[in-house]
Amino acid sequence: MSASAEMPYFIKPSLNLDTEAKKAAYEQAVVAIDANLEGETDRILKMATINSVLKTYLPYYYWAGFYVVKNGRLSVGPYQGTLGCLHIEFGRGVCGRAAREQKTQLVGDVHALAQGSEHIACDPNSASEIVVPVLDGKGELIAVYDVDSTQINSFDALDQFYLEKIMERHFRREALD
Ligand code: SME
Repeated sequence: MSASAEMPYFIKPSLNLDTEAKKAAYEQAVVAIDANLEGETDRILKMATINSVLKTYLPYYYWAGFYVVKNGRLSVGPYQGTLGCLHIEFGRGVCGRAAREQKTQLVGDVHALAQGSEHIACDPNSASEIVVPVLDGKGELIAVYDVDSTQINSFDALDQFYLEKIMERHFRREALD
């Protein structure tokens, strides 16, 4: 079972932001994330908090959440939005590619990808996405962070910059805190 094309009443379609508004929203989100996670070491709490703040501040985040590395595949972790796929193999989807290559993936139009192999449509309303690898203090992949928008071309180098910075700050440098 996957999410239906009809949006539940409490889920809103995405609203794209221009560069200035996007930068301002990320700057505010970073302050809120850092303040709330001061001294926190639990990964699940960190994932849930980062996700909640970003989903609240960025109006084009339709589905946002972590897929964590578990038993050789990606399994859904803290997320907000419509029903997400539970497990994703490393060989499939944009999330799998981000995990395999350990490189951020930006997709302007997910419908241009081969469905079922290059892209997994958990919710047919998703139109563009960004997936960022999440590494721990030893440089090992622990998760990917996946954000989908109902608009095409919602994500760009600015999203990549802030999301990579947030993941680096709260997971890669955890051993140094
Ligand atoms: N977009 C992902 C699938 C996960 S859902 O969008 C929540 C992918 O193709 O990897």
